[in-house]
Amino acid sequence: MNEQEIIEGLRTVCTCKGIRKSVFLKQIRAGVRTVEELKKATGAGSGTCKGKRCTPKIAELLKREK
Ligand code: FES
Repeated sequence: MNEQEIIEGLRTVCTCKGIRKSVFLKQIRAGVRTVEELKKATGAGSGTCKGKRCTPKIAELLKREK
């Protein structure tokens, strides 16, 4: 992992729950393939906005990493 990837990984994807990008990437690399599964595995989408803010970001991340 290079420095850029480490910095990128620190970005918060789910603001409500404070879940960073690296947490999602780890799940995707472990084989998680849907937005719903990713939410369940990380706890994202269960914050006050109910996933309104993070769901599009999770979908985008998944699309890019697949
Ligand atoms: S940003 Fe993820 S639940 Fe609100």
